[in-house]
Amino acid sequence: MKIIKVKNYDELSEKAFQIVKEQISKKPNSVIGFATGKTPIKLYQKLSKAYKNNNVDFSKIKTFNLDELYPMKQTDKRSYYRYMFKNLFSKINVKKENINLLNGGAKSPSAECKNYENKIQKNSIDLQILGLGANAHIGFNEPGSSPNSKTHLVNLTEETAKVKKNSRALTMGISTIMKSKKIILLASGGGKSKAVHDLIKGKISKDCPASFLRKHRNIFVIIDEKASSLL
Ligand code: GLP
Repeated sequence: MKIIKVKNYDELSEKAFQIVKEQISKKPNSVIGFATGKTPIKLYQKLSKAYKNNNVDFSKIKTFNLDELYPMKQTDKRSYYRYMFKNLFSKINVKKENINLLNGGAKSPSAECKNYENKIQKNSIDLQILGLGANAHIGFNEPGSSPNSKTHLVNLTEETAKVKKNSRALTMGISTIMKSKKIILLASGGGKSKAVHDLIKGKISKDCPASFLRKHRNIFVIIDEKASSLL
């Protein structure tokens, strides 16, 4: 695991931007795994700006999003579908048919998850972008999640449910995430310092889902000063 310490959120976003940009310039048809939440917002702004300035061409990329609230209509303002179109997909030249998101409106969540998992395995993710939950969840793999988990429906912990205002979600599993060829995990701010500490220095265990990432061969953890304050 490579740890990249930066000063603040701006530098963190710039570092992540450089990695994504380099990935797409080296392999224009890269398969990219996207995350939602507050943390990647500035990265998405930078990617949008780079497209506008003709610095990155997204026309050949394929995308898979990490997770989606359930049940959740795509038209709902809180859906991650809306988030991705608002913050990134509507601002770059990614082809609509190359965008993959879990459907929070699916009648059968198990069929939706199975289908999504198969699609990911057929494509294989070149670069997965991850955030970090305050309780060290990745995607929506909450404490207690199995390292063997595939895309599945989860009951959120009380803490997460309160923040997300929803009690269930669909998420790539830990094993799905671990199959990505390269991962960047972004954590910014004091609220993430305990999770960052446990991810880097704690025991590898189900209590800290992010700790399983230490077994990944090609992961970059980008953290700012506040997030690394307990290291
Ligand atoms: C949610 C998402 C995660 C995200 C995390 C952190 O729970 N499922 O994928 O990484 O929140 O969010 P934020 O970046 O807003 O702190």
